[in-house]
Amino acid sequence: MYLRRPVLNLLVVRNRLFECFYARSVSKNNTSLIGDEKSQLKSWQEIPGPPTLPMVGQLLNYLPGGIFYKKKEEWPEIMYKNYGPIVRLGGTFGLPPMIFLYEPEAAFHIFRNENWTPVRPGFQSLEYFRKHYKKKKDDSLHETTGLMTEHGEEWRKFRTTVNQVMLQPKTIKLYSDTLIVVADDMIKRMRLKRNEKNMLEGKFDTEINLWALEAIGVVALGDRLNCFDPNLPKDSPVKKLIQVVRDVLTVSEKLDFQPSLWRYIATPTFKKAMKFYGDQMKLNEYFINKSIEKLKVKDKTNEQEGVLEKLLEIDHKIAVIMASEMLFAGVDTTANTIIGALYLLAKNPEKQNKLREENLLKQEKKPYLRACIKETIRLLPVIGGNFRQTTKEYNVMGYKIPKGMFVIVANQYMCLMEENFPQPTEFIPERWIVDKSDPLYYGNTHPFVYSPFGFGVRSCIGRRIAELEMETFLEKLIENFEIEWFGPPMKTRATSINYLIGPYNFIFKDVK
Ligand code: HEM
Repeated sequence: MYLRRPVLNLLVVRNRLFECFYARSVSKNNTSLIGDEKSQLKSWQEIPGPPTLPMVGQLLNYLPGGIFYKKKEEWPEIMYKNYGPIVRLGGTFGLPPMIFLYEPEAAFHIFRNENWTPVRPGFQSLEYFRKHYKKKKDDSLHETTGLMTEHGEEWRKFRTTVNQVMLQPKTIKLYSDTLIVVADDMIKRMRLKRNEKNMLEGKFDTEINLWALEAIGVVALGDRLNCFDPNLPKDSPVKKLIQVVRDVLTVSEKLDFQPSLWRYIATPTFKKAMKFYGDQMKLNEYFINKSIEKLKVKDKTNEQEGVLEKLLEIDHKIAVIMASEMLFAGVDTTANTIIGALYLLAKNPEKQNKLREENLLKQEKKPYLRACIKETIRLLPVIGGNFRQTTKEYNVMGYKIPKGMFVIVANQYMCLMEENFPQPTEFIPERWIVDKSDPLYYGNTHPFVYSPFGFGVRSCIGRRIAELEMETFLEKLIENFEIEWFGPPMKTRATSINYLIGPYNFIFKDVK
């Protein structure tokens, strides 16, 4: 047995300290409050929320009589309905207390006022692996570990370096043609995999993940992974890579987003996680090294440099880490959004037809296609809410939120509130393109309600890549197939990201 003391434990201790000493200043529009103003603020512990008991934490809330017991609704909805727009969830087993916000302006106040190195917690077990576990085994390791797991100055340096390459629209556009070929290849594979009922044989989500990996592989590695090869053996590196991305997200959910003792003892899930993280790292290195070798012999006269080449010129280690981050963050995210879009378009055939009509026009701008993706992400977001650990104190809705507190914005739930989006549960892509005078106009809602790629300097670095990949593939899918759905509604499973889970009752008929 050994004791680990990562960020989270320090936080718990720090938060306990706040329980004893009230904070010196609060930031409202970045000003300190003094005297009476300060005394009027309530402590964060007074924020309403479900009861938390020592040792058992939230457990009682899930037992008969508890607010989460046998409820049909998702817990963000239950919390909002029971406690209102700001809710405190007590800490349990190393998980720190968290504040949930359902008030966009309050959330915006915090996110906007964060400093130049905002902290987004999450993936602490991966952070532990990268910074401590792996380091023990490999002392040659350099300090930086990547965007998902770095904070502070280390994160800022890394992000500034990769921004100049990854946020360049010109560089991203370079992949347009290859992504069309990837989409065409996937359509061919889907045709081959269709059975007599026009359904895809095999696991549908794995199939879409193959597309997502192939697509992000093109950007991360500058080369085709050949995920669609029908002769890929089960134990091929590509198949292993897909599986390990999923395994990693599953264990990380258990360790980082649910109460767990891994911070104190090496639990079985912790041991599994360290193995998965190690496997994933080795597989990434295998593919990246292969690409680097290919680049060495590439004829560079005609072609413009892509992301990997540009990053390799700046810093070899950063290039390798960034490619790994893309393979980690860029698979399940886009795959689930595509599954969501297919489902919503299948359930709304008139919208599907409208999208197909736009496709037929073959115009450069495709507002309806983009609107369909936006609306999919509103209804079925892959990430349920934005997350920060405050780097200063805040006065939010009359409460004093100390520095170091975990704050989660309930974006997914806010997007389903009538006051934010009229007819909130309906798939209406039109709301993203109609005129200001239309009551459906998306701009009538607070901009922080819908913020699926995060906020500010820490927002998703892969956004433009993801959008290009998804637009290209969805366009091809609609061009080739009439998509139908039968049976009960698609189910979702919320882990560190939201998964759309089977059975996947899709029918893919040829477009006549
Ligand atoms: C539908 C697709 C995607 C969605 C909805 C999404 C969403 C997000 C969100 C919400 C964040 C957190 C931002 C914040 O804290 O402000 C994030 C961060 C990140 N995403 Fe994405 N993402 C998607 C696809 C991708 C892809 C394809 C890549 C790979 C290129 C990627 C790479 C990253 C990385 C590396 C970060 C960490 C950024 C940082 O901390 O500096 N994402 N993403």
